Amino acid sequence: MKKKVTKIGVLTSGGDAPGMNAGIRAVVRTGIYNGLEVYGIMRGYNGMVENDIFKMESRSVANIIQRGGTILKTSRCKEFFTPEGRKKAYDNLTKLGINGLVIIGGDGSFRGAQTFSNEYDIPCVGLPGTIDKDIAGTDFTIGFDTAVNTAVEAIDKIRDTADAHDRLFIIEVMGRDAGYIALHSGIATGAENVLIPERKTDIEEVIKQLAEKERRHKLVNLIVVAEGDEFGGADEIAKIIKERLPMQDVRVCILGHIQRGGSPTCFDRLIASRMGYSAVECLMEGKFNVFVGMINNRMHYIPLNEAVKKKQRISEEWMKIVKILAS
Ligand code: F6P
Repeated sequence: MKKKVTKIGVLTSGGDAPGMNAGIRAVVRTGIYNGLEVYGIMRGYNGMVENDIFKMESRSVANIIQRGGTILKTSRCKEFFTPEGRKKAYDNLTKLGINGLVIIGGDGSFRGAQTFSNEYDIPCVGLPGTIDKDIAGTDFTIGFDTAVNTAVEAIDKIRDTADAHDRLFIIEVMGRDAGYIALHSGIATGAENVLIPERKTDIEEVIKQLAEKERRHKLVNLIVVAEGDEFGGADEIAKIIKERLPMQDVRVCILGHIQRGGSPTCFDRLIASRMGYSAVECLMEGKFNVFVGMINNRMHYIPLNEAVKKKQRISEEWMKIVKILAS
């Protein structure tokens, strides 16, 4: 039987995502409302290892719901992935009496949480925070909606200039292992093609499609490629197209880290607030080794294992929609 949780720590880990601050705020205020002490842990697991931990009050999270980034800062901590690092982290937490943790991050961060709570008697609950939306067991992750809207806004602007010059633009969006930003932003901006890591890129098919459009004098085309596409990023694709279709006036635009910043959308603020609230409830109910995910607009506790072992699957139908609507 697990001990009753009385003091909880909250941290953000991995790549930052807009809405993380809203999640921190919800954890702090729900914890305090329920009579818990809440501690902020700086720079992800680094703060646990290096004892960079401070007590938070309700006012500590004032005026942050609308801010991108994370007031707790974030990092990818190598030391925590060693037994010695985790032992240090445990000793620092127990000195302060912290007996529950909320980890806001992606699958790498969840892996760390799972290992830690299997080794030590500190229950961990995750909040899925990543712009990539690549966590199995939840329909959405905190930050995805903002990132994809940032991408859409940028691609719409690119379309204006592409249209003015009759150009082909290859736009690279984030997603080292996941194509959700590319797929959603590609459909929403009417892209001709979307290239993602989860699907083999048939470059011959891409060339054939463009050549056929060239014959129809359709020269304004947008291709959205995820950075982790197995064929290469935007520069690589552009190089091949230029060689094969010299008539095309090709330009590349790499959107990069602007997708990670900015004020979170209403949707991200809402899910972060709801997830943060549920994470504290979850710890108080004595559940652990789970993360709070959203399925059909309802919050669920999902085993961390599911996020760590499985991948979200790209729908065949969505890929078909790209193809049909771009014709
Ligand atoms: O996981 C989020 C993400 O933005 C990926 O889409 C991207 O590949 C990666 O982080 C970039 O990480 P970094 O900011 O450390 O270069």
